[in-house]
Order: sequence, then C-alpha cells, then structure tokens
Amino acid sequence: MTITTSLAGSKKAFALSVLEGLQRTPKQISSKYFYDENGDRLFQQIMRMPSYYLTDSEYEIFDLQKEAILRQLGDRPFDLIELGAGDGLKTKVLLRHLSQKGVSFKYRPVDISSSVLDTLQTSLREELPNLEVAPLHGEYFQVLEELQQLGDHQKKVIFFLGANIGNLTREESQSFLSRLNDLLSPGDMLLLGVDLKKDPAIILEAYNDAEGITAAFNLNLLHRINRELDGNFEVEHFKHWETYNPLSGETKSYIISKVQQEVEIGAISSIIHFDAWEAIEVELSQKYSVEEVESLAKKSGFRLVKNFFDSSRYFIDSLWIKQ
Ligand code: AVJ
Repeated sequence: MTITTSLAGSKKAFALSVLEGLQRTPKQISSKYFYDENGDRLFQQIMRMPSYYLTDSEYEIFDLQKEAILRQLGDRPFDLIELGAGDGLKTKVLLRHLSQKGVSFKYRPVDISSSVLDTLQTSLREELPNLEVAPLHGEYFQVLEELQQLGDHQKKVIFFLGANIGNLTREESQSFLSRLNDLLSPGDMLLLGVDLKKDPAIILEAYNDAEGITAAFNLNLLHRINRELDGNFEVEHFKHWETYNPLSGETKSYIISKVQQEVEIGAISSIIHFDAWEAIEVELSQKYSVEEVESLAKKSGFRLVKNFFDSSRYFIDSLWIKQ
C-alpha cells in the first residue's frame, strides 16, 4: 500500500518561504530547497567525494557491524521504516544481511519524492527479489500518523540515517525526536545516524571541497530561484562560505553577496537588496559529541541500546528503544 500526500502548492510554499526568509535579518533560506533535480545530482556527487567522510563512515558501520545491529533488533517481526530513504545504498547492505539470515521484516522506505521511491523499489526488486517492500509516500510525521490511525500494531524500527538530523538545530532535533517518540509504541526502536564533533579541518574540508562541488550544490539554490520563481540572481556575484564552531558543533553554510546589488524575484513580486558582503544563511549541519547524543535520547523519551561507531569514530549510528 502506498500512502500519497498531496504535494500541490509545493512551488507556492517555496515562493513563500523564500519571500519570508529574504525579508529577515539576517537573510535565510532553508537547505531543504537544495534538492531539485540538479541538487539531487550534485548531492550524489558530494556523497562520492572522499572528503565527504560521512557517507563512507556510515557505510563502514553497516558493512562491518551488520550482524551486531541485527542482534539488537530482537525476535519479533518488524517493519523497518526508513525516513528519507534516498538511494538506500547503506541500507541495502543491512537489508541483504537481514534477508539472508531469514529475519522476518518488511522494508518501508518513506520519502516525499515518488520518483525516489520508484527508483529504489525497482533496484530492490532486482537486487533483493525476496525482500518485502512497501513504500510510504509523504512527509515523515504524516505517514507515521496515518499508520497510527490505521491501527497498525506491527513493531517499528525507524531508520533516520545520513546525519539528516543535523539540518535541525539542537532544540528542533529535541522536539522532532520527542514527536517521533509520541508516534511509537513501547519496544519500537530508532537507529539515528549522527555526525560527531572532530578535527575542525576535517569537517570544513567535507563542506568546502577544493573542487567546488559543495559550492555548486549550495549556489544551485539561486539557480533554482531563477528557474522556478522567475528570479534574476547573477550567481557569479555570490560565493559559498563555510564555518564550523567547535564549541556549539554548528557547521553553517552561507551564500555571500560579493557586491552591493538588487535582485528581482518575479514570483514574489519583490526586489531584494543585498549589501556588499551580506550573507544568506542556508544550511546547518549540526555536529554532536557522544554525550550530547545520549542526552538527546534520554530527553526525547528513549533509552540508548547501543552506539555503533566507524573505525575513525567520525560518525555514530545510535540505536534507541522507546520505553
Ligand atoms: C544530507 C543534510 C546530511 O548536512 O551533511 C552535504 C547535506 N550539505 N554537503 C549534510 C550536505 C553539504 C548533508 N545532509
């Protein structure tokens, strides 16, 4: 069964969000708008860059510790619900292992993009023909609420991987995870992928590669506004800038106007003024310490079951259970 959520008006939401964000001081546009077709392609490229260690680290955890992860999931049949499944590269390693070991489960990838779900389902049919796959199309909480309303009592194991939680502030993460906890039943589990605090040089290199792929990924936001919202950004008059605050763990991306300029955005009937060197805040990629991850679990109503680290201790997949 596929649950479909109406996406009508998604362009209007983009327009309103851009309007609201560019009227703020400081200016801000959400990184969730990075991912149009071009942005998806650039993000795939980022995940293949050696300097973007996050993907390799999490892949290594899944590859080397799949049996240890399996052993923590218990004996009851379950639905493995993956929030924001993407291409499922890391998850497939585990899915293959669970299938081979005869574990009784169903894979339920959740995504707002039906084309992502279709591609994933096709590749899984080929690679793991015996796996039971039942995609859920829509936004995370909508989908989980719908399952709850349908009286679905299957044990749930939620996967939220790839450091996607990092796009939320610590406070937002706390409320996101508490809300998730509210939609689960005792015994349900969460595997959360979190990027850890480490040498700032390594973090900055991951988000500011010499090849300029991350810069292109971030600046694509301006191209997208030009394409979809009838904007006239001259993208070469802006630059990508990355910062890491080792105290807070906040890794932030900015788009900075190199000159004083006016930009017209037709869809919101606005002319936006930029001072020279004025910044737009575009992405937060929050880094955590292990202690901070553990306190996040506790404060959102989970008990920590086990932390799975990669060999460099760059990344953590933290397994939690609802009490
Ligand atoms: C997909 C949100 C986990 O923040 O590391 C990669 C996105 N931005 N390079 C991240 C991203 C720049 C990524 N997440």
